[in-house]
Amino acid sequence: MNHSPHLITFPDPRSVSLSIRASAVVFADPKSLQLLSLIDRVAPSNANILIIGETGTGKELVARQVHLSSLRAAQPFLAINCGAFSETLFESELFGFEKGAFTGALNSKAGWFEAANGGTLFLDEIGDLPLPMQVKLLRVLQEGEVVRIGARRPVKVDVRLIAATNVDLEKAVAEGRFREDLYYRLKVVALDLPILRDRPRDILPLARHFINKYAQRLDIIEPSLSTAAERALLDYPWPGNIRELENVLHRALLVYHGRQIEVGDLHLLPTRIHPEAKDDEPAQAELGDCLTRYLKQLFEEGKEGIFDHIVDHTIHTAYQWEHLNQVRTARLLGVSRNVLRTHLKRMQLID
Ligand SMILES: Nc1ncnc2c1ncn2[C@@H]1O[C@H](COP(=O)(O)OP(=O)(O)OP(=O)(O)O)[C@@H](O)[C@H]1O
Ligand SMILES: [Mg+2]
Repeated sequence: MNHSPHLITFPDPRSVSLSIRASAVVFADPKSLQLLSLIDRVAPSNANILIIGETGTGKELVARQVHLSSLRAAQPFLAINCGAFSETLFESELFGFEKGAFTGALNSKAGWFEAANGGTLFLDEIGDLPLPMQVKLLRVLQEGEVVRIGARRPVKVDVRLIAATNVDLEKAVAEGRFREDLYYRLKVVALDLPILRDRPRDILPLARHFINKYAQRLDIIEPSLSTAAERALLDYPWPGNIRELENVLHRALLVYHGRQIEVGDLHLLPTRIHPEAKDDEPAQAELGDCLTRYLKQLFEEGKEGIFDHIVDHTIHTAYQWEHLNQVRTARLLGVSRNVLRTHLKRMQLID
């Protein structure tokens, strides 16, 4: 596979029935390219994979990517959300059942492993799986076969397992909530998905990808992002990661008017410089230190236009914090509204 354009295109299996449309996967930041190269290296093997990542970091997409880059690409890919089943339902779904095996079993049904046979089974939110179900899953993995409920004969299954979690499974193991033997069986290879904030060079390519996707879907001409909107996207911390970025651009395409998407169309939530230090008031002194360190770094780098950079960043952050309200932003910064407006115009945040 050729990755040089940093954009891979493959048919999205979910949309093939609707239209033969290509869906692109964006990997532009060096961290993402590293991940992609790891995916390419591990995909062809049959090794089980554990994908670890916070909400919205692309766990399911990466699982599909592994499947599509594997030798099983032409075989089924089955995605299951482990948090969605009661214990009895889990068992009948996992193993399948024969007709008449229990009340309500009107027809026989293949379980997940049989349905995914030859292909890949994606178990999402594996950390939500209660212990008794972990035991059952482990048994299938150990034996490589399943017996449908109500059947006598086992069926051999050949399934590549990819599990995903957004919780710290190692901690769950230490606390006795997750079986260690199952953990090691799942985690033959671990794929750690970085949060979006840690792969900033993905932000704009992803943004453009989503603009393209939703413009097509809404059947409108693809708008561009204003420079200020691009800067706002780059400055935002993205607690909801790629999923949040996607939602922000989807909404922006519904509300923008004119030729460009502006900062105001993004409706980014106000954020703090240090969201972690929220209730921590000695933060004042720390912030001073932090600013000084940051400035010294800029001096050292010999960065140009430092004064403007700091002013712009301050105004921009305050303006977002106040939901683009000029009166409150001016009050927050202790400047007149006229002074604020002059800066906002210069920064092209208002006309
Ligand atoms: N590298 C990428 N390129 C393009 N789109 C992506 C990429 N990564 C994720 N997405 C898109 O972002 C959205 C969220 O991704 P996905 O559902 O895979 O994340 P997740 O980690 O499973 O999220 P959750 O924890 O909410 O289940 C999806 O619409 C997906 O298509
Ligand atoms: Mg998911």
